[in-house]
Amino acid sequence: MSNTKQARVLTGITTTGTPHLGNYVGAIKPAIAASAGDDADSFLFLADYHALIKNHDPLQIHQSSVEIAATWLALGLDPAKVTFYRQSDVPEIMELCWVLSCWTAKGLMNRAHAYKAAVQANEAAGEDNDFAVTMGLFSYPVLMAADILMFGGQRIPVGRDQIQHVEMARDIAQRFNHHYGEHFALPEAVVAEDVAVLQGLDGRKMSKSYNNTIPLFDTEKKLRKSINKIKTNLLEPGEPKDPETSTVFQIWQAFSSKQQAQSMREEFANGIAWGEAKKQLFELVNVELTEPRTRYIELLADRSSLEKTLQEGAEKAREVSRPLLQKVKASIGLRPMTS
Ligand code: TRP
Repeated sequence: MSNTKQARVLTGITTTGTPHLGNYVGAIKPAIAASAGDDADSFLFLADYHALIKNHDPLQIHQSSVEIAATWLALGLDPAKVTFYRQSDVPEIMELCWVLSCWTAKGLMNRAHAYKAAVQANEAAGEDNDFAVTMGLFSYPVLMAADILMFGGQRIPVGRDQIQHVEMARDIAQRFNHHYGEHFALPEAVVAEDVAVLQGLDGRKMSKSYNNTIPLFDTEKKLRKSINKIKTNLLEPGEPKDPETSTVFQIWQAFSSKQQAQSMREEFANGIAWGEAKKQLFELVNVELTEPRTRYIELLADRSSLEKTLQEGAEKAREVSRPLLQKVKASIGLRPMTS
């Protein structure tokens, strides 16, 4: 038996919105595959405190946590192999967040893309620079650093927009380590080059903010309907179509084997009708999602087992976070009177 674990992989999923095909292809599927190996060491968590930055609707935040937890489990995430938890169940993260805040230069946060974008939008609108900017939005890279450093995350799979945050976490860790000794592993962002960024119904990147998504676990009927709504051009049956610019083909390719992709390419050249291409796309996607969809519905109907899984995950996570926080606190001078 091998006991050489791979580098620790850690990533968070902000609990806003309903998971869609783009999340599945771009993040969920590769993360579950990577977590399945015997020597894998993955920490995956519901970033529900992060959700509060963008969303103040308690019902939506709760519903999204339930849906996201059920989605990952339904798609085969094995909670016995990974540490799967909810951020808000691990209070040590928040405590560490404050400690790190006191070691984070405000100037570093001024440079964060998300904050800068908000300021630029305000400037363009003639508003005060910091209009509607909360401290949560401003300092959220520190919370993300706490998420990562708390568990010794080394490889951090993220989208491109998050690379800067991982670099900031590394910066913060280095400053802290330099002053207090080696407490934190230095994280590195991992951006998958080979996974597709799916296009949505309108041909732009599939994203909740564009309202162009295809939800993962709608009913079969709704899935078919969504796929039928994918924007195409006016080319008639029999006219050759360009797979490279087609969302239908792009999604097909993300779900198909290489060989299936090649034959669809040929069908496009031969002028397959859009209706027919969409019908085949529905079949392909639906086959892959049918079993997980059933499990998803079962999980949603059994909230107490979902909750139990998350509690067990939190307990596993806290076996790591409690001792590390204690060590960190001791190093900064927060320790029993007697020691
Ligand atoms: N901010 C990340 C996002 O929006 C989610 C996230 C929160 C995260 N904490 C993290 C990702 C820690 C990686 C590591 O996508």
